[in-house]
Parts: sequence; structure tokens; C-alpha cells
Amino acid sequence: MPIRTSGLAARTRRLLVIAAVLALAAAGFGVHRAIGGAGRDGDADGGAAAPAAARGPRTGDRIIPAPLSVAAGSGPAFRISERTVVRVGAAGGSGGAEEQAVRVRAVAEQLAEALRRPTGFPLTVEAGAGAAPAGAAEGIRLELDPAMPEETGDEGYRLTADSAAVRIAARTPAGLYRGTQTLRQLLPPQVESRSRVTDGTDWTVASVDIDDHPRYAYRGAMLDVARHFFTPDEVKGYIDRLALYKVNHLHLHLTDDQGWRIAVPARPALTEIGASSEVGGTPGGFYTAADYQEIVRYAQERFLTVVPEIDLPGHSNAVLASYPELDCTRSARPWPYTGIEVGFSTVCPTGDAVFAFTGDVVAELARLTPGPYLHIGGDEVKKLAPADYQEFVRRVSAQVVAAGKIPVGWNQTAAAAGPAGVGLLQYWDANGGHEQEVREAAGRGAKVIMSPAGRTYLDMKYDSSYPLGLRWAGTVDVWSAYSWDPDTLNAALPAGSVVGVEAPLWTETLSSPAELDLMLLPRLPAIAELGWSPKTAHDWERFRQRLAEEGARWEAAGFGYEKRSEVPWPVTAR
Ligand code: ACM
Repeated sequence: MPIRTSGLAARTRRLLVIAAVLALAAAGFGVHRAIGGAGRDGDADGGAAAPAAARGPRTGDRIIPAPLSVAAGSGPAFRISERTVVRVGAAGGSGGAEEQAVRVRAVAEQLAEALRRPTGFPLTVEAGAGAAPAGAAEGIRLELDPAMPEETGDEGYRLTADSAAVRIAARTPAGLYRGTQTLRQLLPPQVESRSRVTDGTDWTVASVDIDDHPRYAYRGAMLDVARHFFTPDEVKGYIDRLALYKVNHLHLHLTDDQGWRIAVPARPALTEIGASSEVGGTPGGFYTAADYQEIVRYAQERFLTVVPEIDLPGHSNAVLASYPELDCTRSARPWPYTGIEVGFSTVCPTGDAVFAFTGDVVAELARLTPGPYLHIGGDEVKKLAPADYQEFVRRVSAQVVAAGKIPVGWNQTAAAAGPAGVGLLQYWDANGGHEQEVREAAGRGAKVIMSPAGRTYLDMKYDSSYPLGLRWAGTVDVWSAYSWDPDTLNAALPAGSVVGVEAPLWTETLSSPAELDLMLLPRLPAIAELGWSPKTAHDWERFRQRLAEEGARWEAAGFGYEKRSEVPWPVTAR
């Protein structure tokens, strides 16, 4: 359901806005300050025919997120055929060589499986060190190389393609996996088809040399499964979309006023009562330990870390309905609460009962979660005195630390952040809100994930007349999602405190995977590129050209997307 405004008027408006932004930036203002309401409802360009149609072998300058460096080769392309094998090199590196080998093989199997579906070729996975045996096809080669430069890091890789082979080398299996996502993008869009492609597509990879590693260690996306519940299979579909763009953290917002979505055996009422509903009054749902662990496993296979969030002391009506003894402030609304107001509920901030409760929840989540983080929420608590609120955050943070995890909190928890408190702040109110507290927390050593609502909240409407989503943080078109810098959006933050970006997708208005897709695509790739690509690659004009080519890829994969006219989609697509 594309929404269009008058192309010419919108374009003129956009050009004026861009000119104004550039002028303000040149005058020393943060770019974000220049983006108020003006121009946000318009689309940039009438969505005319694309110059960058996906014909011929795709070259490395079409990758999203843009790699660190791409050198096009001059030789002939590599062609995948029925003879192509995926070869895995012997695991090098220190410690756990066998485990590494298993993970490398799993990466190779995932790649082979992804290529088998559209090509129909067998793409067997073969192990063996060194070059291919004499007479054997070299094919696609994945190899751990611990001697690669240190700056390659845990997720960097090098991909070289010539007529004989595609070689991906990395220091870790995660780096190899990221490299395989690049390889998918070097192939024609039909490679994403879930069934065999019989239109004569030529499965070629242009000769290229790509050297790549991420700008930030934390690149996340959040899914709110509390306002509307999404099944484990639906969450896996969400993970598939994130993995394509090298996102490495999946934050699950597991609890809110409208529902509690994770089983805690010591607290059975949470799922007997608290999970029974969702926004609008439809039945909710919850994850058993096995469901949750299956999501974690699926994410791990794609080198994403799951960050579970239990949002307390506010956003807790489902807790209060399940355990009324925690409602000492009498803030509960009648159960089920199916509306979308925020800020009204709180659990008791003090007393043994509430910390026994949080202790049970933290222990279970820590038990189920292999990743280092537990998100404790902490946003929008309007019913507590600041001292009580801060004491609560400190005590729950201490429980998380005692359980061996790093507490993450929304930016309201900043006063409790720093050594042994909240370790990671998620800065959503980044248009000046809580600036001083976040700066002070960063000065004490807390790290910051940038999630400015007016840029990264993928539940914000694209424009004011868009049928899905909300607009309390403004509207977020693709240009707005892309056109900011995580390091400098808040100039007050100390250098080095920003560790990454995250795009939250709240679901007050979204109840199906199809609706998630319309909000996620094409904005997720914008945030993913901010998280991965070097700052020097930031270029809206080039980005929207590259994004235009993703449409055909999403169509082949069966993913929905919003065909915003800011992006010059090829006329042949859809
Ligand atoms: C939030 O948007 N309340 C974190």
C-alpha cells in the first residue's frame, strides 16, 4: 500500500530541506536539530524508473550494509553450476578447534542450503585444508584464518571472487557467516527465492575483492512480543530478515502492561493470567523454556545474540494482574488491559516480596539465556518517587549482576548506571531528554546503544497518513532513518561511549508478520548500515540506489515491504 504525495512538490520540499540541513550542519548545528516537522511527510522523489536496474553480475558497490572496501576485479565472473562445491578449510585458531570446525561447517551448510533452493544444484559441503584436490572444482571456499589483521575482529571477513573460486576468510565463524550474507547479495536477487528458479538466471559473482568489518560491535533490532504476541516461527522469520543485514542482537521485549510472554516456573500465574491477552483483547501467548531456547538457538546459528527484556517497575499491569500482592501502589487497571496507554502501572518499589519476585524472574532468564545481557526496562514510570525508582533499579541490576549477566536499561535508568550497575543504556529519548544523566553515566563507564525514537523506532509512521504505526515521536521516512550519525547525534556523550545502534519495533498497532514487514522494510537496512558501515560510506543518494535493488530480493524471498517513493525501485519490480 504505497502512499504517495505529489512527486514534484515533495521533491522540491525535500531539496529545500536538504539544503537547509546542509546549511545548518555547515554552521555547526547537529543535523538532527534541523529536522523538525518540515518535509518529513513528503517523499523525496516521484519513484521514477531506476537507473540502477539489476542486470548483469552484481558488483560489490551494491551491498547493504556498504562494506569497508570493495575493489572490482577485471577478470571473468565466477559461475555457480551443478559442479560447484562449498569447501571448508581446516579450522585454525586457538582453543576449541573442534567446536570451531563444527560451527564453520554449519555456516557452510546454511550457505549451501540457501543456494540449493533457487539453483537446484547439489552444492555439497566438503572439508579439506589447502587448495582443492587436482581436478576438483574449487568452488566456494570458507576458511578460518587467525593470521588476518586484528582489526578484522570477530565479525570481519575478506571475500575474493574470480573465475575459479569465491573465497571467504575470517578469524571466526561469525565473520565467515557475515561474509556469506555478502555473497548472497553479490548474486542475482532471485537467489532469495524459496523455490527453484527456472527462468535461466545466470548464477554469477563478479570478480571482486571485499575487505569488511563493522563500525560498531552492537547492531540490534527489537521486537515487542508483549503488545502483540508473535509465535516462535514468526520470530524466526524476523531473525531471517535481520541476519541478511548483519544485525547481531535481537532484543525481545517480553513483558508489558498487556501481556507477559515467558514462562517462569516459580511464578506460574504470569503465564496462567498474564499471558492470556494482548492489545485489542485477542488471545496472547507465551514462550515455554523450550520455545525460547529454540529462538535462541536459531538466532545463534545466524550469529545473533538474544537480549531478553523484562520491563519493570513500570509497564507491569500483567504482573499486577498475576500477583496482586505486588500492587501496593494500587496502580493496576482491570485485567485484561487491552489499550495502549503507558506510564500508569508500577510494581512495589520496595519490600521483600517484590525482590523475591524479580529474583525468580532474573534467575530463570539468566538460566535460559546464553548471551551476556538481561534488559531490565525501567522506562516511563510515572507513579514512583525518584528515590524509590532508583533504589529499585539498583537492586534489580545487582540481581542481574549476581546472576552473571550485564544489565541493560532504557535511558531512564541512567542514574543507576555505571560500575556494577546498569552497564548498557539504551538511549531512546535522544532528542535532548535525559541528556545530562546519560552523559554522566557514560562518564562513569556505562556504554550507550543509540535508539533515538525519531530515527530508529520502526513503528513510527512513514508519513502522517500512513495507516499503520504511531506518531508520538514524529514520522520516520527512510531518509530520516538513514540521515544521522550515532556518534554525534548527542554531542554531549563522551567519545567512545556509543557501542552501537538498535531499531525497536513496538507492536501496539501491528499484529501480523505481514504488518511487521511493511514497517521493517525498507527502514531496517538503513539502521543496519549505520551500525555496520564506515562513516565515510554514508551517502543517501547511493544508499537509496542500493536499497532499490533490494526490492526484487524481498519479492523473491516472499517478504513484504513498503514501496516508498523515496527509493527509486526498478519499474520492473512488483
Ligand atoms: C520506550 O519507548 N518507552 C522505551
